[in-house]
Amino acid sequence: ADPDPLQDLCVADLKASISVNGFPCKPLQEVKSDDFFFDGLSKEGNTTNVFGTNVTSADVRVFPGLNTHGLSVNRVDFAPGGLNPPHIHPRASETSVVIEGKLLVGFVTTSHVLHSKVLKAGEMFVIPRGLVHFQLNVGKGKALFLAAFNSQEPGIVILPTTLFVSTPSIPNAVLTKAFQIDAKVISDIRSKLGS
Ligand code: GLV
Ligand code: MN
Repeated sequence: ADPDPLQDLCVADLKASISVNGFPCKPLQEVKSDDFFFDGLSKEGNTTNVFGTNVTSADVRVFPGLNTHGLSVNRVDFAPGGLNPPHIHPRASETSVVIEGKLLVGFVTTSHVLHSKVLKAGEMFVIPRGLVHFQLNVGKGKALFLAAFNSQEPGIVILPTTLFVSTPSIPNAVLTKAFQIDAKVISDIRSKLGS
């Protein structure tokens, strides 16, 4: 989904003082092999949180060699029963491959049709850009998948936290009407999700 590159290499200069769409390139003579290497997905993420999951991103902000290539990868770890809650990537489609465990994966189309499937190691699913999707660990133990994106920075809009723990908060009048619930339910959700 990202624009095409205009040259072989454009390793991101994350600290450049000018801002552009993406990141400016660091000078070619300073480019090293290590700019194209990233080991940040080698470690298991900490899943001790309300959702029981952890997303580790290898996007351009941590892996500058991805700049202009329209690619990135996430590692998602699940505790038993863990949920990667309903979310959207505004700038990318996603395809994931399960490495370990058993996951219920699903997305909902703009006409409210749910497409979902239970996947085991080696199996893949594709999530079209911008659609709401989730993954739930339905196996007995931990689970792990790797997701590839056609954007150097797909972005993530996590629906529960976006709606219930934004700063400042979305007014209760909006959420009570949208979800047809009492203000008490909203404060319950807020206190559980933290801020
Ligand atoms: C999984 O859906 C992810 O966005 O990492
Ligand atoms: Mn996703």
